[in-house]
Amino acid sequence: MKIALIGLGSVGRGVAEMIARKDLGLTITGLADSKSGAMDPKGLDIPALLLNKKKTGSCGDPKLSTMEVITGADYDALVEVSPTNAITGEPATGYIRAALARKKHVVTSNKGPLSLAYKELMAMAHKNGVALRYEATVAGAIPIMHTLEHGLAGNEILALYGVLNGTCNYILTRMAAEGLTYEQALMEAREMGYAEADPSYDVKGIDAAIKLVILANTIWGTDVRLKDVDCTGIDLLTPDALRLAEDEGCTIRLIAEAIPRKHILRVSPRIIEKNHPLVFDGTLNALTLETDMAKEITLIGRGAGSIETASAILGDLLYIRDRYDGRA
Ligand code: HSE
Repeated sequence: MKIALIGLGSVGRGVAEMIARKDLGLTITGLADSKSGAMDPKGLDIPALLLNKKKTGSCGDPKLSTMEVITGADYDALVEVSPTNAITGEPATGYIRAALARKKHVVTSNKGPLSLAYKELMAMAHKNGVALRYEATVAGAIPIMHTLEHGLAGNEILALYGVLNGTCNYILTRMAAEGLTYEQALMEAREMGYAEADPSYDVKGIDAAIKLVILANTIWGTDVRLKDVDCTGIDLLTPDALRLAEDEGCTIRLIAEAIPRKHILRVSPRIIEKNHPLVFDGTLNALTLETDMAKEITLIGRGAGSIETASAILGDLLYIRDRYDGRA
């Protein structure tokens, strides 16, 4: 299957390296970063282009734009991993539309288009007989979309609760364990490269709320938006609040929850018992699904990282390869 890869930041690099290293039957025939592009229907020399990117800051020909790669390259699936813009969704939404219009499958890690234009893009993919998959948008390496679609097919999802932002979980862990202030803990989280480019998205709960919107629309077929989420972050939490929770044998975690029967769509810091399945240290993510048949299921794993996110993208690509056998 031929792939056009848009975006060569941490996630894009991870995808390119894994495709080049593993023998999965995937060939990258188009590649674009913000400054340049490259195309070859027989397959690009990925290690050479990555080296070029390291040395010069761009991967290919500066005269070749991202849109020219999307509309001109010979590929079956577009992997769109350019930076997220949660306000406009652009330019990623335009990239995805252009690929779907060419009847190409799309796999993305981009939260902007999915939270802002989910219904429109899914309808376009459906009309054109191709797949739009986005496992990597929520909880990094955790295969939540595959679990919902396959393992739990036939179940009614009654509610979901999740720790969907690794940066906040790390900050809360460090504040409780070391008595760090919120600012000190945030500085550490930024140094680890886990926080968003604008970390207010993490600490104000916006990143978790966007992921909750994507999950809710996927599970219940709704068209909710960020503005529909009742959202409180951890930016105003004090070490005293954490200490008080500790005194009660509890701790504080930023919990995203969706409970349709109670009309709840919320992200907020919650006091919870330390032995609760959603309490763990560091940057991990976790989700508990409450279902009618399987009852409660909790998934836990890495919510970000270059290779971890590439794992979700490759899962989507290989699903498309197998599902659309003969076509892609
Ligand atoms: N900033 C996000 C987090 C990265 O901390 O979870 C993954 O979306």
